[in-house]
Amino acid sequence: MMMNGELAGFTIPRLGMGTMALAIEGRPDRDTAIRTIHAGLDAGVRYLDTAWSYYLPSEPGTGTAKDLGYGEKLVRDALASWNGPRDEVLVATKTGYRRTMEVPAFVAPVSDSEGCGRRPGEERQHLQAAGSQYGWMADSRPETMIRDAKESALHLGVDTLDLLYSHGPDPAVPYEDQCGALKQLLDEGVIKYAGISRVNNEQIDLARSIIGNGLIAVQNQFSPSHPDPERTMEHCKELGLAFVCWSPLGGFLDAFDQRAYDPFREVAGNHGCSYQRVVLAWELSRYSRLFTIPSARNPQEINDSFAATELTLTPDELAMLNASVDARRG
Ligand SMILES: NC(=O)c1ccc[n+]([C@@H]2O[C@H](COP(=O)([O-])OP(=O)(O)OC[C@H]3O[C@@H](n4cnc5c(N)ncnc54)[C@H](OP(=O)(O)O)[C@@H]3O)[C@@H](O)[C@H]2O)c1
Repeated sequence: MMMNGELAGFTIPRLGMGTMALAIEGRPDRDTAIRTIHAGLDAGVRYLDTAWSYYLPSEPGTGTAKDLGYGEKLVRDALASWNGPRDEVLVATKTGYRRTMEVPAFVAPVSDSEGCGRRPGEERQHLQAAGSQYGWMADSRPETMIRDAKESALHLGVDTLDLLYSHGPDPAVPYEDQCGALKQLLDEGVIKYAGISRVNNEQIDLARSIIGNGLIAVQNQFSPSHPDPERTMEHCKELGLAFVCWSPLGGFLDAFDQRAYDPFREVAGNHGCSYQRVVLAWELSRYSRLFTIPSARNPQEINDSFAATELTLTPDELAMLNASVDARRG
């Protein structure tokens, strides 16, 4: 199977590394996080996925200036202290979301000097994982997206961002305005390529009509327990866009249906490897322009996951796994 793919001008393995779990709740200490990224890069990972919003607020609200940029600075520092070819590594980040603590506190005024970009008294969409004191808040006003993107470049220590995604639609902002912000960032040379995330097919079409060829990737949830019921991957195939799957192992914050992974456990038994490795190899088989970006919280996990690029599943195994997942999505 073709394990390399083209993304944002890089020809790289289609198994990258999500760094969210190294930067938000449950994160390991910073040294372990850096060692985990180094282990991924040493194994062959050449795509690191981060976001402006991968940090934890240290106090109620969206956090203080010192909280911001934790995840992006982690990626920057891991790359700076790595002994390999930095210029071979694609770093993608996202704009338009922020973290929150204690949801009701959001409406308290926060000044722009804290870098939080929220107008006093403004209510925005909140997403919260069950059992977590932290949540996510969409803020994709064009001015916020543009300002945060420029901050991301500072956090990452680069002049131009390789690939910037809109983190997700914001119900308070027309989607065309979010796409317009990405287009402006492209035109101003702040970013080389644009992507969009958490989108349906209609939003993909709208984004293409506004951003044009600068739009190269869609990052949507895809795994055996969340098999893309809206068939956005098929739409990306028709359009020739890369499809990047988030939470490719089901995620680690929200509960998911473990039974979806039983067929993968069975196939893992044939190969004497983890079922996670089978899941990732199966995902890579679904589309030649699919990239999968598992998180890891220690070096062993990313080493185990990256070995999916070497795992060959038989036609019978692939047919059985495809049938099990397709049956779930109806
Ligand atoms: N665009 C978006 O809105 C969005 C949303 C979510 C995620 N993402 C991106 O997608 C990336 C991945 O998603 P995710 O962090 O939600 O979850 P995930 O990759 O589906 O699951 C990761 C969890 O699985 C465990 N794991 C990983 N590799 C393993 C292995 N080889 N064997 C056994 N267990 C393994 C780890 O948990 P333990 O450490 O507990 O074992 C890890 O935290 C994120 O880092 C982020 O870049 C994007």
